[in-house]
Amino acid sequence: MKYSVVVMAAGKGSRMKSETPKVLHKICGKEMIYHILKEASKISDDITAVVYHQSQKVKKVIEDSFSTVSVVVQDHDNFPGTGGAIKASNPKNEKVLVLNGDMPLVTSEALKPFLNIEADVVISTFVLKDPSGYGRVVTDNKTVKKIVEDKDASIEEKKINRVNAGVYLFNKNFLDEFLPLLSNNNAQKEFYITELIELAIKADRKVSFLDVSEEIFVGVNSKKELSFAEENMQKRIKSQLMENGVIMRLPDTIYIESQAVFEGECEIESGCVIKGSSVIKNSVIHANSVVEDAYIENSSVGPLARIRPKTKLYDTHIGNFVEVKNSTLNGVKAGHLSYLGDAEIDSGTNIGAGTITCNYDGKNKYKTIIGKNVFIGSDTQLVAPVKIEDNSMIAAGTTVTSDVESGSLAISRTKQKNIAGFFAKFFK
Ligand code: UD1
Ligand code: CA
Repeated sequence: MKYSVVVMAAGKGSRMKSETPKVLHKICGKEMIYHILKEASKISDDITAVVYHQSQKVKKVIEDSFSTVSVVVQDHDNFPGTGGAIKASNPKNEKVLVLNGDMPLVTSEALKPFLNIEADVVISTFVLKDPSGYGRVVTDNKTVKKIVEDKDASIEEKKINRVNAGVYLFNKNFLDEFLPLLSNNNAQKEFYITELIELAIKADRKVSFLDVSEEIFVGVNSKKELSFAEENMQKRIKSQLMENGVIMRLPDTIYIESQAVFEGECEIESGCVIKGSSVIKNSVIHANSVVEDAYIENSSVGPLARIRPKTKLYDTHIGNFVEVKNSTLNGVKAGHLSYLGDAEIDSGTNIGAGTITCNYDGKNKYKTIIGKNVFIGSDTQLVAPVKIEDNSMIAAGTTVTSDVESGSLAISRTKQKNIAGFFAKFFK
């Protein structure tokens, strides 16, 4: 059987207290809506995302990554609420899985059990110590009667700690029949998807319940819940990587975004941040280093180094307080205190402490090209555009403003003079 998926992502998310629409808040480097659509894509090829608040922005993020997801705009003026969201969708298949757009930890594996239950409506529940904010599952002598929203719940109902997780499976023809019956007779004057449960029970339709894990189905409504969800996803990402052979020193202190890839044998020491689509292969990242959208192979980085986007390191050693940006280093040593930006540096070359590529003149950026076996003395400024050919040397303290030919030494310093007896005269 084929399943349609509808992701409700039209809400404003006022509890986030943010200008950014809720589903565009990021977790481990990617928007919440990205994570959920990625998982949905594994189980369905008819996916609809329902948007409304800042719809163009949300639509763009979705379409940038998911060309086959159809994006529809909710008629929020006439039909606000999650019931209004589902009304806006037009799923193709007989079975429709509906997901809240604010549950970024949900996995395709955790959704599969829904697809095997035969009922007009399947709802998901879990039990919480603190159920506040969630819809409560109201039962009467063990049989479920309805879901009541937090804002509509009586004092007694608020004490119920079995809550609606926010994932539903519907028969398409049930939706066609019952969606027109939804009302907005509640505290928020909204059309609630949850009213469908009460309507189904009253009409003697088959309603089933699935117990799900809070850890996977938890919703994000505030920035506090956002950080909680991110922490959980971090745990997931890191334990997967360790299972695949990455060594992590104190993993709780390491942050790794979801798109990062590790190959071969890698080691990440404590306090590291690995962002974006970084690829790290057979390398060691020492403590407290930051890597973003970089490619690192057979290299060691840090401690306390910063490898910025579009950097490629092969067989290279980067030491402490070295920043590299948009540069390719192949068989290079840069052990201490340097800025290497918009540079290409070839094998056997040593970059002395305090070397700076002056890549920006205030208007434009320029390249520094350094060949093989070059020795760059400490405290060198390389004013780009500039080219240092193979087998050459730069004396410490040199400001390089013109190209250096192969085999030569470049030196630019004021000549030193020593004034005898100066100290005594000065401090007398
Ligand atoms: C909802 C459920 C609640 C459940 C909880 C689980 C309703 C009425 N309540 O509450 O029973 O316990 O999820 O997390 O459904 N949305 C739209 N259009 C709208 C309003 C919301 O698409 O007009 C989207 C939101 O973007 C969000 C999702 O629906 O992704 C849920 O909305 P939210 O306001 O977070 O509902 P909750 O109050 O958390
Ligand atoms: Ca929610």
